Formats: sequence, structure tokens, C-alpha cells
Amino acid sequence: MKKDIDWSSLGFGYIKTDYRYVSNYKNGKWDDGVLTTDETVTLNESAGVLQYAQTCFEGLKAYRTVDGRVVCFRPDMNAKRMYDTAQRLEMAPFPEDRFIDAVEKVVKANLDYVPPYGSGATLYLRPYMFGSNAVIGVKPATEFQFRIFATPVGPYFKGGAKPISLRVPDFDRAAPRGTGHVKAGLNYAMSLHAIVDAHNQGFNENIYLDSATRTKVEETGGANIIFVTKDNKIVTPKSNTILPSITRRSLMYVAEKYLGLKAEEREIYMTEVSEFKECALCGTAAVLSPVGRIVDHGKEILFPSGMEKMGEITQKLYDTLTGIQMGRIDAPDGWLREIARNTVTV
Ligand code: PLP
Ligand code: COI
Repeated sequence: MKKDIDWSSLGFGYIKTDYRYVSNYKNGKWDDGVLTTDETVTLNESAGVLQYAQTCFEGLKAYRTVDGRVVCFRPDMNAKRMYDTAQRLEMAPFPEDRFIDAVEKVVKANLDYVPPYGSGATLYLRPYMFGSNAVIGVKPATEFQFRIFATPVGPYFKGGAKPISLRVPDFDRAAPRGTGHVKAGLNYAMSLHAIVDAHNQGFNENIYLDSATRTKVEETGGANIIFVTKDNKIVTPKSNTILPSITRRSLMYVAEKYLGLKAEEREIYMTEVSEFKECALCGTAAVLSPVGRIVDHGKEILFPSGMEKMGEITQKLYDTLTGIQMGRIDAPDGWLREIARNTVTV
């Protein structure tokens, strides 16, 4: 039974699906976990998540491939990153093998919500975890809840492949030795004012600089950044205060191994950004979203690729990465986790 959804007009929003996974940590161990139809969470008024924002999350997608399989892209990487995040936030880490198993269960239970091949939509999975018992002194919770829900999504930025505009904000995202390298909810809470302000000023997103010197490019609120040099090299910021994007790491591999391009991770100064010929945001939600313009306090950088379409190299990276994800191009070993096969493709 296909769900009555107009897949091609989906934006990036929440749509309730049939099942979600939930597991609780208490007395030093995780319970077996179950699928439930209940999308609500009931908590004590003093739960660690409500008082001290002890929460973290992940994001990954399930795709319907050209040959009717349903696959997830590198879920082991999300499992590992969530484990690392939980440790940094003094939360009980959810075992990596159980994370992958829970992803599979949620996708299988919501197969009708995996958008058809070619629709431009995908099934977004949101694993998350929070401190669930009452705390009042500033200390970690001792009980946690891990959940995964699924929601079908379209492009993160309205207009899909149209280049977007960024601005350098007066706000910082992550402190040196802070939590910028993990996927803590608090990193997003503190970006909300900056994103609303950016939208009010007519920009799609903020491009954050390193907060120690405010000279180096870091990332946006929800994606890493890649640049293309005039001689077609891919460069991306090296920093220990940005999230290690799985999409970005995959793209660097694709650039080198599939496209024969040089790919380099290094410090990138804001003053050199005007020398690049293409720029794009990369992430699970953003996929590869071209950037046409960056404004830094009245100074405007317009990339030669323009405001109408993706640059040539960005397009090649996009086609190869999405080709791998949708099964049109052979994937490196271990990149696609098959969850179902012989599913209906239209
Ligand atoms: N940077 C931030 C701050 C993010 O929230 C995300 C999204 O997960 C990314 C980068 C991209 O990471 P990934 O490619 O693993 O989705
Ligand atoms: C993702 O790409 O999965 C993200 O988490 C980015 C954003 C929606 C927060």
C-alpha cells in the first residue's frame, strides 16, 4: 500500500510515519527496545534534557534504488559518531551494532514511506537520545531514552539545486575545546537566533568563522563546506570545532577515487574565499547545495558559477554521490546497507 503523499513536492519537514523505535537506559543497562506507534514522549518535569539540554541526535537517509532495493547510506558512521557524542555529553552510549539494527527495524516498519526512485525525495531517519530522569543539581542524568523516527523529506533548501546565499554572522557556533565536533542539541539551540536573523536579512544560512580568531571558515549551522579551486581541486576546512560530516568525508573519497580530482582538508582563511570558483554545502539533509554568494559585513563574494545553477565540479560530485546512493553507480564496499529488495519502484 502506497501512502498518499505527493513525493516530488515534499520539503524538509516532519511527517508522522507509522513506527518509531524506543529503548530506555536504566540501572546501568539498555533494555531490549521496541517499535511503537506512539509519537509522543512523556517526561518528568525535571528531566535532564529539559533542564540542562542533555540531548544529542543523528541524521541519515534511506533510499530506494534504481533496481528496487531500499538501502541506507553508511549507517555505521552515524552509529560511531553518536557513540562519540554521547561520551562527550556524559550520556550512556547506545551500542553501535544495536544502532544499526534499530535503523533497519524502523526502515522496514515504514517501507511504504520510502519515496519512489526518481521522485527526488528520501526517507530521513532521526536517531536521538536524551537524559530522561529528574536532575536538579548540574549533573548528568542516569537514565536515558534512545529513539529513532522516520520522515519522508525533499530538499533542505527551497528551490533544490538553485545556489543559495550565505552571510558571515556576528555570532559564533562553537568554542575551542567545546562541543562543535559532536552532534549535541545545544549546538543547534544556540544557532537558532543566528539563523532567524540571517533569514530576516535575506540569507539562507550563516557561514561561521572559527571563534578563536574569526579568520578561518568553519561550517554552516547544519552542513560542512567544500570549495573548488580554479584548477579543480576540492578543498574543505580542517578544524576540530566542526562536525565531521559523513557526506563530506564521502565526497572527498568520491573526488579522488571516482573523479580523479585532488581533495585536500586544510585551514581556509576567509580572505582566500574569493579566489575559489565554486562553493557548496554538504550534509545528509543538504546533500550538496551550491552556494552562489557569501556576504561578509558588506563585502560580497560572487562565485563564478553564478546564482542559476551548480558549478561544473559540484554537479559532477553531486551526480556521483547521489548515483552511488541510488544504486546507479557501484558503491565502495560497505557504503550501502541493504534493508529490503524487490520493492516496487513506482
Ligand atoms: N555540520 C553540521 C553542523 C550538521 O548538523 C550536519 C548534519 O548532520 C553536517 C555538518 C553534515 O554531516 P553529515 O554529512 O554526516 O550529515
Ligand atoms: C542532517 O543533515 O542530518 C542534519 O542533521 C542537518 C540539520 C537538519 C540539522
